[in-house]
Amino acid sequence: MDTPHIPVLLDQVLEAFEGVKGRVVDATLGYGGHSEALLKRYPDIKITGIDQDREAVEFSTKRLMPFKSRVEIVKGNFGDVIESILKNGDVKGVLADIGVSSLQLDKKERGFSFESETLDMRMSQDNPLRAYDVVNSYSKEDLERIFKDYAEIRDFRKMADLIVKNRPFNSAKELAEFIKSVRGSKKGIHPATTIFQAIRIEVNQELSQLEKLLKSLEKHKPAGAKIAIITFHSLEDRIVKNYFKKWTQRCICPPEAMRCECGGENELGKIVTKKPVTASKEEIEKNPRSRSAKLRVFEFKE
Ligand SMILES: C[S@@+](CC[C@H](N)C(=O)[O-])C[C@H]1O[C@@H](n2cnc3c(N)ncnc32)[C@H](O)[C@@H]1O
Repeated sequence: MDTPHIPVLLDQVLEAFEGVKGRVVDATLGYGGHSEALLKRYPDIKITGIDQDREAVEFSTKRLMPFKSRVEIVKGNFGDVIESILKNGDVKGVLADIGVSSLQLDKKERGFSFESETLDMRMSQDNPLRAYDVVNSYSKEDLERIFKDYAEIRDFRKMADLIVKNRPFNSAKELAEFIKSVRGSKKGIHPATTIFQAIRIEVNQELSQLEKLLKSLEKHKPAGAKIAIITFHSLEDRIVKNYFKKWTQRCICPPEAMRCECGGENELGKIVTKKPVTASKEEIEKNPRSRSAKLRVFEFKE
């Protein structure tokens, strides 16, 4: 089957789920690359795949058909769907390969690329908020906030001001060209990259969905489950890193406590990857998208 997306850090993901038997939730099913490899390698694994993108769900439903009852696919946002799946209590693993797929990025109609004739950027076709709305109707203050918080843009005030003064923008291409004209073009990275990142995160509420997923895991503490999360930029990686660190804390007494009264055995499990796992040179050469991928793995206590 021709696939529109190459799964990143595939060997490392397979290694993370070695020995797992039972249900693994693939929270970002995409085109089913990671899930298919897990199903092939580990016959005792069943997959519950989630994706909010209709095209991704249709594609992976066909791709994973040969695995029959070992696969269940849910269309929705993982932050909303995960709670009811974890309530069942049989989850032995969760994989999340956060972010946009190559197909979403490359297909011009989806409005993610600098060449797109639309200004969309929605992963879910049911999402009422489009990039067009963010760019053309958000207040200057809201644009400043998203540029600062979602992409750590240094000149966030200037960029928000320029966009407000020069809008409307009708396509991603128009916006990208405008940003290029005011920022100038540097070698390699497109000058609109971080602004596009901020808009995309806002449209898809990417950071709050990731937080919701991690909060649900913290609440349900799925016994013995392995959690593998791949992120593509530092804001997401920081969120994952901080949750994993918090989950290893043995003492949860308030800082002002004179001595430990909690028993000191409150860790939820252990961090498997002391440092984030990144792609090898060979993988980056074959799939440049893997360049910024970081995988972190946590294992909950039995
Ligand atoms: C990087 S791709 C995953 C690729 C997949 N691992 C594979 O091997 O084909 C990310 C996918 O996750 C989906 N996605 C991202 N955030 C999501 C969310 N909050 N809820 C549901 N799906 C999400 C996107 O629609 C996209 O299809």
